[in-house]
Amino acid sequence: MDPVTRLGVVGCGLMGSGIAEVAARNGIDVRVAEATHHAAEAGRRRITASMDRGVQRGKLSQEQRDQALARLSFTHDLGDMADRQFVIEAVAENRDIKADVIRALDKAVEDPAAILATNTSSIPIVDLAVVTERPAQVVGMHFFNPVPVQQLVELIPALTTSEETVRRTHDLAGRLGKQAIKAPDRSGFVVNALLVPYLLSAVRMVESGAARPDDIDRGMELGCAHPMGPLRLLDLIGLDTASAVAESLYEEFKEPLYAPPALLRRMVAAGHLGRKSGRGFYTYDA
Ligand code: 3HC
Repeated sequence: MDPVTRLGVVGCGLMGSGIAEVAARNGIDVRVAEATHHAAEAGRRRITASMDRGVQRGKLSQEQRDQALARLSFTHDLGDMADRQFVIEAVAENRDIKADVIRALDKAVEDPAAILATNTSSIPIVDLAVVTERPAQVVGMHFFNPVPVQQLVELIPALTTSEETVRRTHDLAGRLGKQAIKAPDRSGFVVNALLVPYLLSAVRMVESGAARPDDIDRGMELGCAHPMGPLRLLDLIGLDTASAVAESLYEEFKEPLYAPPALLRRMVAAGHLGRKSGRGFYTYDA
C-alpha cells in the first residue's frame, strides 16, 4: 500500500482550509480546489494567516511554514485533480452540492484506484458513493473544527466501501496526526448524533427565555469543564452548518430532539451564522 503523497481538497472554507493546512504541514503535496479564482485566493490567504499565527505562537518555524506553503497549490478547475491519489471534499453541507462534486471528481481523477472521501457531517456516505463509478473507493472522513487542533477523525465506511479503502484512509488520518474512530454510516455518525441534540437543547433554552446564552455557556464551561459552552460552540461551527446537520439527522430519525428550533432557522435566515459572519449568539470583530 503506497502512502498518499498527492492529496486533493475540494472546498477551502473553515474545514477544507484546516484539512489542507494539516496535510501540507505533514509533508503531503496538496492541491486545493475552490469554485472560483477569487474563492481559491481567499482560501490561500486563510491558510497562510493560520500558519502565520502558528509561527507567532511558536508552533512551527518560519522555514516549516514556507515549506508547507510550497506544498500547496490552488485551482478553480476540478480537472486539476486528475493526478490525485486521494481527494477529500469539504464543500457546503448540502446533499446536492456534495453529490455534484463527488460525481465530478469521479470523472476528473484518472487513477481508478484513487479514493474519494467526504467530510460530510451528517449525509449518509452511501448516498454519495452510489453517484460514482467507484463506490468501493468512497468513504466518510469527518474532521472536527478547528482541524489543526482537534485530534479526531471519524472514519465512516459505506456499505459499498472496500477494506482496502478503509485501511488507506486510516493510514492517511494517522499521517495527518489524527486518531481515527470507526463510525457507522447513519446520519450524524457517532459524534454529531450525540453533540447536536445537546446544542439544539441549548438553543431551545434561549428561545424559551429560560436562560441567557452567557449563563448557559458558563454553566457548561465551569460546571462540566467543556472548553466552550454550547452556544459559543454553535457560533464556532456555524449556525448554517449546524442547522443543516440537524435537518439531516431529523430526516433520518424523525425524532423531535433533532429538529432545528425555529430560533436557529431564523438566525440562519438573518445571516447570523456565528463567528464567520461576525454575529451569532455573540458578536465578533471582523
Ligand atoms: N487553528 C490552529 N490552532 C488553533 C485554532 C485554529 N483555528 N484555534 C485555536 N487554536 C489553538 C491555539 O493556538 C492554542 O494553542 P496553544 O494552547 O498550544 O497555544 C489552543 O488551540 C487554544 O486556543 P486559544 O487559547 O486561542 O483558545 P481556547 O483555549 O479558547 O481554545 C478551542 C479554542 C481550541 C476552539 C477550544 O475552545 C475548543 O476545543 N473548543 C471545542 C471545539 C469543538 O468542540 N469542536 C468540535 C466541533 S463539532 C465539529 O466540528 C463537527 C462538525 O461536523 C459540526
